[in-house]
Amino acid sequence: MNTTTNRRVALVTGAAGELGRAICARLCRDGLHIVAADINLQAAQQLVDSLECQPEQRIIAVYADMADKGSIDAMVEQAGAEFGRIDVVVNNAAVNHRGSILDFDPAKWDHMMAVNLRGPALLCQKVAPYWQAQGSGRVINMVSRCWVAGGPPAYVACKAGLVGLTRSMARELAPYQVTVNAIAPGLLPSAFTLDGRDAESFERMAAGSINSTPLKRLTTPQDIANTTAFLASGDAAFITAEVIHVCGGSQLAPFGSG
Ligand SMILES: NC(=O)c1ccc[n+]([C@@H]2O[C@H](COP(=O)([O-])OP(=O)(O)OC[C@H]3O[C@@H](n4cnc5c(N)ncnc54)[C@H](O)[C@@H]3O)[C@@H](O)[C@H]2O)c1
Repeated sequence: MNTTTNRRVALVTGAAGELGRAICARLCRDGLHIVAADINLQAAQQLVDSLECQPEQRIIAVYADMADKGSIDAMVEQAGAEFGRIDVVVNNAAVNHRGSILDFDPAKWDHMMAVNLRGPALLCQKVAPYWQAQGSGRVINMVSRCWVAGGPPAYVACKAGLVGLTRSMARELAPYQVTVNAIAPGLLPSAFTLDGRDAESFERMAAGSINSTPLKRLTTPQDIANTTAFLASGDAAFITAEVIHVCGGSQLAPFGSG
């Protein structure tokens, strides 16, 4: 362990992505040490290089493939060796192999389940001994408004499963004063949502999303970073097993015209 300060430590997966970068920047501003984990280590390192630390605050980039238990274990061991504690886990990494229930590919289904659902469970299992020793901890799982609204079946199944995992872990980890919550973002442009789509088709999807959103805009990375910071803070100490929809009301079904 290199660190002598008692700053809290946040481990963020998918740190190099659109939401991950905003979350790391915000938690960094809030003074936490950050473990920025991603399968794209080079991009995670670029993020780390771009963030300004306070004196004695540290941010490290770590490789992790959330589909691989060995890689998850190695990431936690590296974080533990570096900081000696892990306070906040943000399960943000995800993949989306789009496909209909009529023609889905079982190998892609399994990969999505591994990254999006089993990975967060394995990560929390590996970090749990820190929480048990510390008597505190925070888990923030990134789901999606589509867990209620529906959408690509495998993706929705993972996110609905992650809500179930959130609620189950909230009960199991409560004796150690660990809170477990989920954030459900609405649509925003990222590699994740643009993948395989041209700009025009994304614009059409975005226009449709804005139209069906009572607050009439897309989600921003800052919306999600702010909510993550709140759930990670002392102000949220008595909130657990919740799903916070940060999508301008788009989780609501349309309600008539009159
Ligand atoms: N963008 C949206 O519209 C939207 C909406 C709702 C929910 N979400 C959720 O927000 C989260 C972040 O999405 P984003 O839009 O920032 O996507 P993004 O594509 O910008 O970022 C995803 C990150 O995850 C990393 N990643 C991919 N596979 C990985 C693996 N196996 N192990 C570790 N890291 C891996 C990628 O390298 C990337 O940096 C996801 O959980 C996603 O489901 C996004």
